[in-house]
Amino acid sequence: MSDTENSPSPESPLLTAARGRRPERLPVWFMRQAGRSLPEYRARREGNAMLQACQDPDLVTELTLQPVRRHGVDAAILFSDIVVPLVVAGIDVDIVAGIGPVLERPVRSLEDVRALPRLDPAELGFLDTAVRRLVNELDGLPLIGFSGAPFTLAAYLIEGGPSKDHALTKAFMYGRPDLWDELLSTLAEYASIFLRTQAAAGASVLQLFDSWAGALPATAYERYVLPYTRRVFASLDDLDVPRIHFGVGTGELLGLMAQAGAEVVGVDWRVPLSQALSRIGPGRSVQGNLDPAILLADWGVIEAAVREVVEQGRGAPGHIVNLGHGVLPQTDPEILTRVVELVHSLPGR
Ligand code: CP3
Repeated sequence: MSDTENSPSPESPLLTAARGRRPERLPVWFMRQAGRSLPEYRARREGNAMLQACQDPDLVTELTLQPVRRHGVDAAILFSDIVVPLVVAGIDVDIVAGIGPVLERPVRSLEDVRALPRLDPAELGFLDTAVRRLVNELDGLPLIGFSGAPFTLAAYLIEGGPSKDHALTKAFMYGRPDLWDELLSTLAEYASIFLRTQAAAGASVLQLFDSWAGALPATAYERYVLPYTRRVFASLDDLDVPRIHFGVGTGELLGLMAQAGAEVVGVDWRVPLSQALSRIGPGRSVQGNLDPAILLADWGVIEAAVREVVEQGRGAPGHIVNLGHGVLPQTDPEILTRVVELVHSLPGR
């Protein structure tokens, strides 16, 4: 953990909420705040392949700062992608525009799992440089570091690309529990190394994205996923860095996810926040959960939805206002700025 003079002040509303207290001003940021909703992002990304951009500290710094300058959000999130650790380890994965991560050779056999490379922390110099530069530039505003969770990374490795039902992944999980254990252990190590590197360079919050965990019934999640996710969080216990745990379509899993070791549970847009709170139980802060699509409606509709989410969040020890999944590319960026202003105008306690 960095102890430079640029570390966020303990009074940062985001850190206060993540630690389970109510700051005077509610913190707000947006998943996928850096990206295609911003014209300055599209201009800066032109001619730079996504995965190259993620490993270029100058570009990472600029793309991370763009939404902070524009919206006045309470945190920056590192510009990267959940598949970057796979790329650094030497796995042949690319991000195809409009599709997402695609693998040349999916991982489906014993040999494939055994052939997975280790992730060498010495290869993460670009990440260390980018995070340090950002922490310096952010002048006290928290930087959120992140990683993909073992299950979601496994889903990309096995499917070889995006999938609606994750049938191949689930067949592998149910049918080859021994191999599944090896695969998820390797991926838990990737996530742990990737997160730790960001915290060591000064990231003051860490978010683990288990985007596709909602594909599983709770019993399977508990048996085949939770132990590895717990391992990732436990490996970070010695750092004084609050952690956020988020997945999509995870309404039925919230109670289990709350036991994985993170201080904050991210809630997707499908579950009313007040219901999510009772599923999560006491002692956890929450993040979320406006429907990203509501930002395409008229301002009156958006304003009512923001007020509703903030009211429902008052039942939690701490609430970080966010969307219930990423910003849609067609969102008007001025609306995001207005949402930040509105949240900041509402009482935090
Ligand atoms: O602003 C931020 O939130 C930080 C940057 C960020 C990106 N990806 C940049 C990105 C973060 C946090 C992610 C996480 C990520 N990547 C997740 C977890 C979050 C979630 O949405 O559930 C997942 C599942 C991925 C995998 C992935 N990468 C997808 C599905 C896509 C979209 C493909 C497309 O073109 O529609 C990507 C590409 C990607 N990652 C883009 C960005 C800005 C778009 C690529 C581009 O601009 O060329």
